[in-house]
Amino acid sequence: MKVNFYTSQREYLEKKGEFDRAIQSVIEKGNFILGEQVQQFEKDIQEYTGAKYAIGVASGTDALIIASDILGFKDGKEVITSPFTFLASTSCITKHKGKPVFVDIDEDTFGIDVNKIEEKINKSTAGILPIHLFDQMPDMDKIMEIAKRHDLRVLEDAAEAFGMRWKGNGSEYKHSGAIGDFGVYSFFPTKTLGGYGDGGMIVTNNEELAQLVKYFRVHGASKKYHYDFIGYNSRLDTLQAAVLSVKLKYIDEAIKKRNEIAKLYFERLSDCENIKLPKVKGDQKQVYYVFNILAEKRDELAEYLKKNEVGYSIYYPMPLHMQKCFEYLGYKKGDFPVAERVSEQIIALPIYPEITTEEVEFVCETIKKFYKK
Ligand SMILES: Cc1ncc(COP(=O)(O)O)c(C=O)c1O
Repeated sequence: MKVNFYTSQREYLEKKGEFDRAIQSVIEKGNFILGEQVQQFEKDIQEYTGAKYAIGVASGTDALIIASDILGFKDGKEVITSPFTFLASTSCITKHKGKPVFVDIDEDTFGIDVNKIEEKINKSTAGILPIHLFDQMPDMDKIMEIAKRHDLRVLEDAAEAFGMRWKGNGSEYKHSGAIGDFGVYSFFPTKTLGGYGDGGMIVTNNEELAQLVKYFRVHGASKKYHYDFIGYNSRLDTLQAAVLSVKLKYIDEAIKKRNEIAKLYFERLSDCENIKLPKVKGDQKQVYYVFNILAEKRDELAEYLKKNEVGYSIYYPMPLHMQKCFEYLGYKKGDFPVAERVSEQIIALPIYPEITTEEVEFVCETIKKFYKK
């Protein structure tokens, strides 16, 4: 049996009529740049997430760069973040000569170790950039409390976190991204809410910040051909907004299916002693965007999965403090032992709403067979 790590085909074929009509309506109207579908989708995201403002941009990466620029994560200012993430969570800080200050990750959740944040704060610190990685959020109560006490800005990288909600000590669940000063989502095709190409969004509850994002995504123009800032050319494509609006209608169902698949993985793999399953911390509603395990002999397991046509991915094989592009920051191997160890053991198994029970069972059997060899 061949199990794809990810495929967009099954969902497309299930809802072909709806997707085709949505795309066609954009082409027929020709409103390709910031068309009405973008505004409608932004409204839908506000409603779904509870964020007061949502502004569509070209990608999650651009969303992070624009938000970092506006929050002043630049010119030598320090931003505390995790080294175990996708490049864009950190390159958004260095893009404008800000300085990422890494702290190690939590052993069980792979997110930033919130107990290590405060010791890194000094007079150059401008903000904290937590990443809601894989399937859960770090302790946002603690992060917001530290930020408030030290007057720091918080940029939530919620690129992978659409649908996740944090309650913590609060009385109600808050959607990821709608807690800090800014939150960003990525609509990269594989994401929980993924388009048919690149796309991203910035959300905020602050009117002034929202207005700045609106200027920044059109070159910094406060009105046509009047530039108050040097901004970007970064808009959510109207075709993507049309596709994403279709997907958003079914998002709760899709999230439910992802979480059911995760449950199946937990059930089928709990007796496998050679792997460690993910753990959740804090009162939150998780979304299984990916299903990661820590595996003994990870690279050999990966080879075996490949031989048996089981798709997998490794997020992330090398923490950011060890990447060549960040050599100048002066970190070295051994600085963040948890992130380094996790990067050697982690492997992501296929999870998407359309994967079948038989396919998940085949993945689990293949893993178990490998360790019995
Ligand atoms: C944690 C994280 N941050 C940022 C990004 C960047 O998003 P995009 O690919 O839409 O630019 C991604 C996704 O790929 C991501 O996983």
